[in-house]
Amino acid sequence: MSVTRRRLVGAAAAATGVAAATAVGGSRLLGGDDGARAGVATRPRGALPRVVRPSRQHGWNASLDRDRAGNVLPPRHQRLLLCELVDDPTPDAAWRAEAALRHVERRTGGDHRGLLIAIGWGPAWFRRIGVRSPVPAAVALNDAEVPRLDDPVCVLHVGSDDPEILDRAEREWFGRGGDVDPAAAGGGGTAGAGAGHPAAGDDGAHGTLGHLLRVTERRTGFVGDGLPEEHRTGTAGLPQDRPLPEGAPMFMGFQSGLRRNQASEDDVTIASGRWAGGTTMHVSSIALALDSWYRSLDDRGRVQRMFGATTTPRDVARRRRGIRFDADADLAAVQRRHGVVGHAEAAATARRDGDPVILRRDFNSVDRGGARVHFVALQASIDDFVATRRAMDARRAVGGVVGVHVNNGITEWMTVESRANLLVPSRADRICPGLRGWSA
Ligand code: HEM
Repeated sequence: MSVTRRRLVGAAAAATGVAAATAVGGSRLLGGDDGARAGVATRPRGALPRVVRPSRQHGWNASLDRDRAGNVLPPRHQRLLLCELVDDPTPDAAWRAEAALRHVERRTGGDHRGLLIAIGWGPAWFRRIGVRSPVPAAVALNDAEVPRLDDPVCVLHVGSDDPEILDRAEREWFGRGGDVDPAAAGGGGTAGAGAGHPAAGDDGAHGTLGHLLRVTERRTGFVGDGLPEEHRTGTAGLPQDRPLPEGAPMFMGFQSGLRRNQASEDDVTIASGRWAGGTTMHVSSIALALDSWYRSLDDRGRVQRMFGATTTPRDVARRRRGIRFDADADLAAVQRRHGVVGHAEAAATARRDGDPVILRRDFNSVDRGGARVHFVALQASIDDFVATRRAMDARRAVGGVVGVHVNNGITEWMTVESRANLLVPSRADRICPGLRGWSA
């Protein structure tokens, strides 16, 4: 038996021992008031598998490839797993969940060829453990949108260049051969994540997430050269009579996440307090209807709306690191002069000290047969997201031929279907942050 295997088996045996002791003692190991009343038990004993990864869960960039201009290339396949608790959270269930994550991490390696993971916890989690939530509940962000306001306990954001790795990880964490609930299942992947409960034998040496969490919704997708075109045919919201721009990494035809238009991981990290080292995550689902985007606009028109009123296709082709827009731009004047306002130009008015305040990690999706973007934004505070999203609406520019949804960035082609806010703690706290009696 290898050292690794011996350590895992030993660790699992220790965990099982704790589970038995807990059951005999009958104590419920909740945090907050319940935890205090129950006389919180000590954390389960047993060494967790050792895995070396950055202390920040959101520290993905160092393990991602870059293109020739130095822009970070996101993992080509990504998923968001929205979860609820299966039962009262206990240190034992937390230990098993952490062991399950580490086991998969050990096997896969921590770069885009392997598996990148970031787990965010929502207000529902903090309510459950009686701790004040460090993030507010999601709300609609303008009076034109009516999003579903999601309140998951947590969201697992996973990415890999290899979708098989994501499938295997899901199966290992949440159970094998599970019966995917069609309502909860996204389009990609074959894992039985909807099942939620680990099948018999799955909890062996590796731990499981299924004693703690049940997946209520899977969002699946992809980003990278040519992948959108591979998913075009038969997808609602995409042109059926012409291909997407050659090699486009996103459905709207442009590369997103260019280095000059992104916040750094440092800038989105919470600087002080209980959650220092973590970040916050906003997750929304945006439906796209791109027929007129491609049918009614030429290259210039699309570039103006995506970037800025005076940006040309030549600018986009040459300035591969992104285009720096002015935070003090007078968008009303732009509207009067050009009759159009760009998406990036508007969002850039939320920059602080010259830099963007959100780090975007969104990806394309054909979940439920329609084109969409699963938007993931990281920022030190949800207020930074709200300010950027409001800036993107460019309300001060509305007038003349610019309306809320006309000639105003990309707002005409997108509908926000849902929103959620989460805390992404640092890695040491990535499972059950704040649960009394538990630390990894
Ligand atoms: C359909 C969805 C979206 C698409 C396809 C999209 C695409 C893009 C593209 C191509 C750029 C310029 C290049 C770059 O990223 O570096 C950009 C910039 C940007 N977008 Fe979006 N975007 C979308 C939605 C959003 C949303 C919902 C927000 C939230 C506020 C947002 C915030 C930003 C920001 C902050 C910038 C950079 C502005 C700056 O330079 O300061 N985007 N987006």
